[in-house]
Amino acid sequence: MTNKYPPPIISTQPGSWANSTVIERWPKIARRVIEENQFSSRINEQLEVLQADIPHKPIRQLMDQDAPDQKTWKAYIKPHLGKNWLVVPWFFAEMYFYRRVMEAVDYFNLKQDPFSFQKEQGLEKSREDIAVLADFLAEKEKITGKGDKILGDAFYFSLWGNQDDLSLWPADSKKDSRQHPRKNLREHLLANDIKQVLNVFSGRDPAPRRVDVMLDNAGFELVSDLALVDILLSRQLAERVILHVKAHPTYVSDVIEDDLAQTIKFLSESGEGPTAQFGKRIGAYVQEGRIEARAHFFWNCPQALWDLPDELRDDLKDSSLLISKGDANYRRILGDREWDFTTPFHKAVDYLPVPLAALRTSKAELVVGMTLDQIQFVFNQDPKWLVNGKWGVIQYAPAANKSEVNGTR
Ligand code: F6P
Ligand code: MG
Repeated sequence: MTNKYPPPIISTQPGSWANSTVIERWPKIARRVIEENQFSSRINEQLEVLQADIPHKPIRQLMDQDAPDQKTWKAYIKPHLGKNWLVVPWFFAEMYFYRRVMEAVDYFNLKQDPFSFQKEQGLEKSREDIAVLADFLAEKEKITGKGDKILGDAFYFSLWGNQDDLSLWPADSKKDSRQHPRKNLREHLLANDIKQVLNVFSGRDPAPRRVDVMLDNAGFELVSDLALVDILLSRQLAERVILHVKAHPTYVSDVIEDDLAQTIKFLSESGEGPTAQFGKRIGAYVQEGRIEARAHFFWNCPQALWDLPDELRDDLKDSSLLISKGDANYRRILGDREWDFTTPFHKAVDYLPVPLAALRTSKAELVVGMTLDQIQFVFNQDPKWLVNGKWGVIQYAPAANKSEVNGTR
């Protein structure tokens, strides 16, 4: 399987985004964990050791032996034992870094999310934007009928919600990634397969039974994803939605199950207006089982999506659409390999049992489905187009076994 794919991205290249993420960003994130929590001196010392290990100390096995994912991580780490952090696949190094944070803060015993402060700040800071989204939902609720435009806008809101990313722009940073109010939801889109995505839903009777979402960040992005889910469920465009969440905190802002509960609580307790009504609708969908959150350690592992474990792969066969949110999930879909940027998306993603819609704002030097003219054009406009989160894609790949009629699911 692996020989058909390009080599993994590594982070040795000085000046590359991957290299600056390892050398500059991860030590700062480890430092912020110390500053933003009241951990014991023993834990803070372990975080300082982690900080100092990056990037030249040899990669080692994890020491939290009683952790539930010990066995799988032992196998993931084995081929990279003793190497420095720059020469191993960048995706492995990044997942390993965040898993080392879990070890340092004794997460599997203390169950204290070391990024909770950032996530709370992020949500608090988004109150106004959330109100705009809630008004949109309240307004659209009155419109009956097909609503392709409404669903399309909901997908765009979910995409641009991905610009909020605390591993890049900490909640208290002046640099606010979101350009809003966004004049036009379609600007800064490098690829837009929205028509194929909407086609999964249009004119389907009965409506798709199930849609799955690989979630990304908590905060405004999760709220924008819940807005999409609200449109899907309230307009009977899907019967139920499975939200795939991380098994433990990672990438600072990524959603764990508790973040979903906190967000629903935050929305529901926001006064009496559209935001609270939105929160209560989501809460009711969860109670009715029309929204189900599922945590799995695979979403925290360094593997490519083509290495999806059988139990997840078989389960996804019941879904009509897998929506992937964000940059790290996009990298996992592509195995974080050195793809030629002009590779057609559906050629690189030809291995899933379910159609895929990837909604991603670019925060890493990897993309597919571009033309050379486009690359030239966007680079001339914005040399940092690949990594500043200002440019997005909505890319669609049909299920691998195209023969299967999607409508039967
Ligand atoms: O760009 C820095 C970075 O941490 C990438 O390494 C990672 O893919 C991305 O940010 C995370 O972004 P997202 O939350 O959209 O997955
Ligand atoms: Mg993330």
